[in-house]
Amino acid sequence: MKRTVKDLVNLEGKVVLVRCDFNVPIDDGGKILDNSRIIKSLPTINYLVEQKAKVVLLSHLDRPNGFEIRKSLWPIALILKQKIPAPVYFINKVVGNEVKEQIKHMENGSILLLENVRFYKEEVDCDMNFAKEIASLGDVFVNDAFGVAHRQHATTYALARLMPNAIGFLMEKEISALSKVVKNPERPFVVVIGGAKVSSKIKFILKLMDVADTLIIGGAMAYTFLVASGIAVGQSLVDDDSVDFARDLLNIAYIKGKNILLPIDHVCIKESAKRKKAFVTNQLSDDMVAYDIGPKTIKLFTDELMNAKQILWNGPLGKYEDAKFMEGTKEIAKAIAKSKAYSIVGGGDSVSAIKKIGLEEDINLISTGGGATLKYIEKGSLPCVDVIQEKIRL
Ligand code: 3PG
Repeated sequence: MKRTVKDLVNLEGKVVLVRCDFNVPIDDGGKILDNSRIIKSLPTINYLVEQKAKVVLLSHLDRPNGFEIRKSLWPIALILKQKIPAPVYFINKVVGNEVKEQIKHMENGSILLLENVRFYKEEVDCDMNFAKEIASLGDVFVNDAFGVAHRQHATTYALARLMPNAIGFLMEKEISALSKVVKNPERPFVVVIGGAKVSSKIKFILKLMDVADTLIIGGAMAYTFLVASGIAVGQSLVDDDSVDFARDLLNIAYIKGKNILLPIDHVCIKESAKRKKAFVTNQLSDDMVAYDIGPKTIKLFTDELMNAKQILWNGPLGKYEDAKFMEGTKEIAKAIAKSKAYSIVGGGDSVSAIKKIGLEEDINLISTGGGATLKYIEKGSLPCVDVIQEKIRL
């Protein structure tokens, strides 16, 4: 078991460096479009404030190319100010004398947010000198950035090698839910996988094949699997490089006695038609392109989900951002929310679908990780968690 922030003692007056994942969508005017990653970081920050620590927050935002004003973290500081009843400061740097001075003058129980760590290329390069400079600013390191725990960067990984450390509450919650999925799922364990590219999820699907009882495959990805089973898909999107893999996977599922469910009807358009009106079909002819699962498929998938004891959902079931093709994703989201199973939803698109439909309260865990969730399930661990000290057993 990893050391958590609760295992840290005598924090009063100590400078605690906390790595968060404040990588949130922000529009050109600096308006934050979804602040859930910030909200989910609050338990750790508030706890450290209550312990009267000096809380120094580190995060990345997006993938900037050097300094980009649009990717500054100052809008995050404004949100933190609204949400936390403690002084919150911001400085537009990560290292240097000004940062040192500001930390020196922090009062106990206050917060200082540093600038986007990816403004420095040393962050992604995991540069040890950069990490040492940051480490010299604090006494303890807390990693609460689950969303980026699959990346070995200076502030996600190297800091833990240089300082006493622990994971935060958010990291602890995400890891314990996912580790149960990988090691000891409630059965039947049903996984819903969507999205477009099979190739980006090959290892993830292979791993799930070992642990899940049923794989429900929807989204554009399903058409690659239908082609692999010899079913015509018209002009629907197919990941050509992954057809062989999909075929192997279907064979493995058969040998292992696992259940794979694919769409049996579709919402599609006719490429040749002047007016691209959406309609439902059981069979896709040459000039049809499918963008969503049809009503029979919704029923098939929903029945399976209703019997599940554990559900993991990653990736939308259709082109849900277009109102004509959102029904499948919406109905499956509703079924997951309604089912009595312990449900975990991960990945940007499925999470935003859940939010769009307003079902957040009915899901047990909405993961803040996309890539990190996939990596954890594939490997059963994440480098930035592995590097954290183990709890000392007395
Ligand atoms: C995410 O949004 O998935 C994390 O913040 C990681 O971002 P990255 O893919 O740019 O490293």
